[in-house]
Amino acid sequence: MKRILVTGSTGTLGRPVAAHLAALGHDVRGLSRRPGAAHQGDLVTGAGLDAALTGVDTVVHCASDTRRQGRTDIAATRNLLDAAARAGHPHIVFVSIVGVDRIPYPYYRIKLEAERLIEAYGGTTLRATQFHDFVLAGARLAGRLPLVFAPDVQVQPIATRDVAARLGELVDQQVPGRADDLGGPEVLFAPDLFRGYLDRIGSRRRIVPVRLPGAAFRAFRQGEHLTPAHRSGGERWSDFLGGTPVER
Ligand SMILES: NC(=O)c1ccc[n+]([C@@H]2O[C@H](COP(=O)([O-])OP(=O)(O)OC[C@H]3O[C@@H](n4cnc5c(N)ncnc54)[C@H](OP(=O)(O)O)[C@@H]3O)[C@@H](O)[C@H]2O)c1
Repeated sequence: MKRILVTGSTGTLGRPVAAHLAALGHDVRGLSRRPGAAHQGDLVTGAGLDAALTGVDTVVHCASDTRRQGRTDIAATRNLLDAAARAGHPHIVFVSIVGVDRIPYPYYRIKLEAERLIEAYGGTTLRATQFHDFVLAGARLAGRLPLVFAPDVQVQPIATRDVAARLGELVDQQVPGRADDLGGPEVLFAPDLFRGYLDRIGSRRRIVPVRLPGAAFRAFRQGEHLTPAHRSGGERWSDFLGGTPVER
């Protein structure tokens, strides 16, 4: 049994990660800025970090300023690593994204820089492909229009619980540097993923594949965010849609 701090424990990934680690028998602390959180802390200001890290063996770092494309992520990761060094150097497992070193997308550049900080600390990085929830959010947004625009790229969506399961293994194995990438069980065309969502909500709207401009989307079209050699064998998109209460 390890004492584990999960940053981002209120997030899309952090919630199943914290639940999975607790189910494995670990003593799990979740870090959150929210008032009233058991381990309240802010990675950007550094408030609460020393207390949250006291006695911790492992940190699973899932927090990210996702709404602002990672704007504060470098400062946050630096503060976390500094506080971890003061707390006796617990093992750190960081979650990144497949292709951050091959796709010139601003958020990915920040993730890559954070990976370098984690590597210099001696931690582990797991790169995962896009979460089912992320694809669902995109489909839901696009599905509001009479014509549903979908990027003409392939995606390899993965369930957060499958990422959580891999993170649980990495907590025990303490793999140095980068672990093998992790992708979902199937590579699918985004317009087909969106079709699955529209069928699920009973919408017959027409889908229009769109070619987005720029170097980043060219890299996405080339599949630089995919890892077909590392499929999770876990939950497929159709199973996710079938088992999720899907609102419009
Ligand atoms: N979305 C994808 O498809 C995908 C794919 C591969 C990897 N990833 C990576 O997976 C990770 C988790 O993504 P997600 O979608 O679960 O994110 P999310 O739902 O947006 O959650 C972000 C979390 O970060 C926490 N956070 C943000 N700023 C913080 C701060 N200053 N101090 C403390 N906590 C802070 C938030 O906690 P509070 O608001 O409670 O403080 C929240 O729990 C990210 O690193 C992302 O890059 C995402």
